[in-house]
Order: sequence, then C-alpha cells, then structure tokens
Amino acid sequence: MKRAKDYIIFSLDVSSAEEARHYIGILSEHVGMFKVGLELFIRSGPEVIKMIKDMSQAGIFLDLKLHDIPATVRRAMASIAELGVNLTTVHCGETREMLKAAVIGSSGEVGVLGVTLLTSISSYDIQKAGFENQYSADISKLVLKRAEMAKDEGCTGVVCSGLEVKMIKNAFGKEFLAVTPGIRPAWTLAEKDDQKRVTTPASAIKNGSDYLVIGRPIRDAKDPVQAAVMTAEEIESA
Ligand code: C5P
Repeated sequence: MKRAKDYIIFSLDVSSAEEARHYIGILSEHVGMFKVGLELFIRSGPEVIKMIKDMSQAGIFLDLKLHDIPATVRRAMASIAELGVNLTTVHCGETREMLKAAVIGSSGEVGVLGVTLLTSISSYDIQKAGFENQYSADISKLVLKRAEMAKDEGCTGVVCSGLEVKMIKNAFGKEFLAVTPGIRPAWTLAEKDDQKRVTTPASAIKNGSDYLVIGRPIRDAKDPVQAAVMTAEEIESA
C-alpha cells in the first residue's frame, strides 16, 4: 500500500552533488522519490542518479522538461531511459509529435509526464504571451487541452497544479498520473515566491494528486526532516 511519505517527491534543487548527498542522507526515509532537475543534472550529470541509487531506496524523477524537435527529443529520451529512473518530463508544447517522440524514445523504460503549464504561470502571463482569450480567461482549458494531447500520445501522466487535478482525473481516469508541484503547506503560505498556482498538500491529495513535488518548503525549512514529516502527516490526514 502507498504510505503517506510515498506521495512526496523531494526536489533536489541544489547546486552541487555534495549538497544533494546531504539531503538524500537525511530525507531518504521520509520521502517517496527524489527529483533531479536541470540545475543539478547540468552540474553533476548521471553520477548524481547513481549516487541516489547507492544511498537510497527512493524512486527517481529526472525532471529535464525536454522541448525540441521530435528527433532530438526521441534520442534524448532514449538516453534518459538508459539511466534507470522512474519518471521524467517533456513539455506538452505546441504539437503532439514531440510527445509521441518522447514516448517512443522511452521504450516503456521510464514513465513520461507531459508538463501542461508551469505552476509559476498565471492567467495574466498567458494573456501577455498572446494566447486566445478563452485560455487566459480560464487557464484550466489550456491545461486540459495539453493533458489530452499527452494522454492521446501515450504519456504516463502529466505535471499540473493541484487546482487542476480533479478535472484531469475526471477527464482521463485514475490511472493517468497527476503530479503536482506548486505545493505550499499552510506553515509556509506567508512566504511569497515565483509559484502562482499553489495548493496545500491536503487539498492536492483531496483533489486526487498521485505525487506532490516539494522543493523549497522542505529544503529551506529550519529542520527539513521535520518539514517532511509534517507534510506526510498532513497527507495522511487528507
Ligand atoms: O521549490 P518548489 O516547491 O516550488 O519546487 C518545485 C519544483 O517543481 C521545481 O524543481 C520546479 O522546477 C518543478 N516544477 C514546477 N512546475 C512545473 C513542473 C516542475 O514547479 N509545472
């Protein structure tokens, strides 16, 4: 059975393998997966994946958010598949071809998540970027449209905000994974940052989220272990 801590994906948003080692060491027993993003992967590369495997039983989410021509995405995804990670990401972007190429490149060896719309993007940003009014008026329409592309092309699921999970589960079923960043536990809501479409752990879980991606609220806490434990308790109660 999935335990409360298994829902937590801790984002290793740090700039060195040494810092990553510290967080892996203290959090291994308290989270379900570690997420490696661009900052750490550019610095430390596949070595950091090996380090997580050596140090921990937790899963690995390699969040590289691919966005390129289909041939390049297919080849990059084939390289990711060789690393033996559980989940990875491709932007839903403009066309289905990129998503299809990502799924083909993965060869079923790694779960491919389509990034629908970054949780740092608001309706205002969408309007300024020149999208049709229907999308800036209701950002969830754009998320749904992109999730549909990801589903049709065979992705394992999507990355979306906790505010959109219910809609995605209703439209595409329980098996289609919804992974949600932009998680801000009640004890951090006073601190403003770049995330705009935020939810608490409890509300993301109640909406049906499969995994909560949490970075700064745990990384920057005075006691990261305590922050992870408190988050798991909130998940449990939800
Ligand atoms: O610190 P914070 O909890 O905001 O970290 C969120 C993490 O999730 C970051 O690593 C960010 O790159 C990632 N992410 C996101 N929004 C997405 C996809 C990934 O914030 N749509």
